[in-house]
Amino acid sequence: MFLNKAANPGYFTHGRNLLGSINRGVNRSAALQSYGRLAGEEAHKSLQHWSQMPDVEIFESISRFVHRVIVRCMMGEDFYDHHVDELYDLLQQMESLVGHPFNLLLPSWVPHLPGRQLAQARNRFAEIFRERLAARQLESDVWRDSLDYINYTLNDPRTAQLADYYPSHHVVLMFAAHTSTVASIAWTIVEVSLSTWLLRKLDLTSSYSCSAIPYTKRKFESLWPPCRRYSGVHMFRTTKQPVSLEGSDYTVPEKSVVLISPYLTHHDPAIYPEPHEYQPHRWLLPDGRLNPWNGSKEAAFLQFGAGNHRCPGENFAAIIAREFLAALLMKYEIEWGRDGAPADLSRLDFTKVGSPWLEGDAAVRIRPRVFGS
Ligand code: HEM
Repeated sequence: MFLNKAANPGYFTHGRNLLGSINRGVNRSAALQSYGRLAGEEAHKSLQHWSQMPDVEIFESISRFVHRVIVRCMMGEDFYDHHVDELYDLLQQMESLVGHPFNLLLPSWVPHLPGRQLAQARNRFAEIFRERLAARQLESDVWRDSLDYINYTLNDPRTAQLADYYPSHHVVLMFAAHTSTVASIAWTIVEVSLSTWLLRKLDLTSSYSCSAIPYTKRKFESLWPPCRRYSGVHMFRTTKQPVSLEGSDYTVPEKSVVLISPYLTHHDPAIYPEPHEYQPHRWLLPDGRLNPWNGSKEAAFLQFGAGNHRCPGENFAAIIAREFLAALLMKYEIEWGRDGAPADLSRLDFTKVGSPWLEGDAAVRIRPRVFGS
């Protein structure tokens, strides 16, 4: 319901079909490899820029970085070259406007300013898609092998005829992809900056190459899942049959809507001893593999949900996080900015679509690492 007004009428009729295409399009191994390279390039560009600034706000800066990576990989180099900043502003506007009480509560035939503003932003988003897709048609040879997700949907017979719905699909997709990916990287930076002992223990000074050194790669990946503690997305499910709850005599009736909270699971000390501690090493198995936590009957790690509606962007998000954290921690020093470390990490901002950010943000200073000093 929340997203209804961000999409054009009719989109949700085809929503399942388009949502299904994300898994197929984004998780192709050639695509993921290319997304890793692009995320690495964007990380280096952003970090170089930030290292020349006095301080950078963590969540705000990571938000722009993640947006650039998602546009470049999912929409393609043409959307990135011509519209990356405009798309950021439009999505920010739409996100705040869909949450406006008038848009949430009033039917769409009631005229009001936030409704008109939302329609304007939605229309401009759609216009950008029309412009770019028309330009691609004129240069179809250039775009034939592009690994961006739009190109995949244009070439897949299940979604090729749905091009009119792509703008709505990408608004929904950007909402699903952006906030939580930003949260997971930004919280990792906060946690790592609060734990200088950790940097020494992980020995991050050895050289890193995205594809060549699997064990080192795991070290970066292990920094990230501890952000389970900031899981803000709830999972909605409907029971297909009565389910009796273990340890109680209550049975959830058939066709009930059940709300599952990854947040509570991720703070259960029976699963994660000392759940409030940031302990990346608990994610590394002795042989260097990542600990998956979930056995065949367990659902201990729900950061990306489970079952039919499980997040199709998990691999992509992990790649963005790994490339960014590797670039940051290998080549730069971080210290707290003008206001020092945030005093209260429990101030969570849930106003966005996805995992919470830190209310009021926190600033860090990033400087190139001087080797051999
Ligand atoms: C750290 C980053 C991310 C987190 C924590 C996250 C988490 C989640 C969760 C918990 C769900 C609901 C799963 C369920 O109900 O079982 C979900 C769904 C979804 N996510 Fe993600 N996500 C992230 C990144 C992404 C990215 C990068 C994309 C884009 C490719 C994406 C696209 C989606 C979509 C389209 C759905 C809806 C799936 C459906 O209903 O079938 N997510 N995500």
